[in-house]
Amino acid sequence: MTLRVAIIGMGAIGANHARCYTQNPDAQVVAVCDILQERSDKGAEAFACQGFYSVESLLNSGIEFDAASVTTAGEENGGDHYAPTMQLLRAGYPVLGEKPISNNIAEADAMVALAREKNLRYGINLNHRFTPAAVLAKEWILRGRLGDINMIDMTMWINNPNETSPHFHARALHPHSLDVMRFFAGSEVKQVQAFFKQGKGRATWSNMQLNLLYENGVIGHLRGSYDGNFGAAGTYGLETLETVGSDGRFVLRDACEELTFYPRFDDKLERHENYGGMSHFSQTFQSRISHWVDQNLARVAPDKIDASGEDALRVQRVIEAAIESWDKGKVVAL
Ligand SMILES: NC(=O)c1ccc[n+]([C@@H]2O[C@H](COP(=O)([O-])OP(=O)(O)OC[C@H]3O[C@@H](n4cnc5c(N)ncnc54)[C@H](O)[C@@H]3O)[C@@H](O)[C@H]2O)c1
Repeated sequence: MTLRVAIIGMGAIGANHARCYTQNPDAQVVAVCDILQERSDKGAEAFACQGFYSVESLLNSGIEFDAASVTTAGEENGGDHYAPTMQLLRAGYPVLGEKPISNNIAEADAMVALAREKNLRYGINLNHRFTPAAVLAKEWILRGRLGDINMIDMTMWINNPNETSPHFHARALHPHSLDVMRFFAGSEVKQVQAFFKQGKGRATWSNMQLNLLYENGVIGHLRGSYDGNFGAAGTYGLETLETVGSDGRFVLRDACEELTFYPRFDDKLERHENYGGMSHFSQTFQSRISHWVDQNLARVAPDKIDASGEDALRVQRVIEAAIESWDKGKVVAL
């Protein structure tokens, strides 16, 4: 069986989704859509499918598809997802959305609620946790190799000079980091405390440090920046994550590039470089999107979808709590 897909929003990320589906033998791009006609036309030609200039015309066309990717952007990279996602869910189609699920909690809530009401699969492209190295690290946790998890520390930074809103950095970048931390903590954030700093010459809060307490007692720390991406072309890395347990710890560098387990009581270190053949962040879309294709073809129950809309909404709520913590100078409970 093949999953027939429509893609809404044909910027660089829509084209990336289209390439991932095209490279997957179990998926086929049957339609692309963008309100910018030249982007839709270009996508239709590149991916040999029909192009549309609105979701409405796609839905009225009678073209058959099984699921859609919504790769729009908008305010804080998430403001435009709501309208096309609601149109597609109302029409009964499963949706894989981009992160942030939305920069607006009420709209994120409404999308998650509609997907639940219609019993539809709704996933978000929280791609960092789907790399072979992240999956292996999670297996180590599940089989008790680290013992009890005590602490998770993460750094995620890129260079993004966009100054459009005060909290663009927290809302647009940190769905990724907080989702990965939640994945390894295996629990929800209970309390958050944040400090923010504007980078040199900036009006936005482009640097942040968060302290997190999870419901299961794990403590976490997140360091984020839009003034990062060190090296001429980001040579020196995007992210580092360290999970520390009673019996050992692991360090995962750049989502897929290097995973090392450090045992606590002996010296039998285990190191993997480019585990599973994945060597760069640019390849992380493929594993997440293939998982989405597999879960749809297997007709997985909507509440069992990995990196679901609901998961994405949870981390967005943590981001809003962090903003409140900084604004009010206090620890915020979720
Ligand atoms: N998961 C990741 O690792 C990752 C990485 C980078 C960006 N992203 C996310 O991907 C998304 C897209 O980013 P981009 O750089 O491609 O954005 P972009 O602005 O270049 O492209 C978005 C496109 O959507 C179109 N669009 C907007 N509303 C529409 C509608 N109602 N119907 C049809 N088309 C519509 C726009 O015309 C535009 O062409 C953002 O949410 C961003 O946060 C995710």
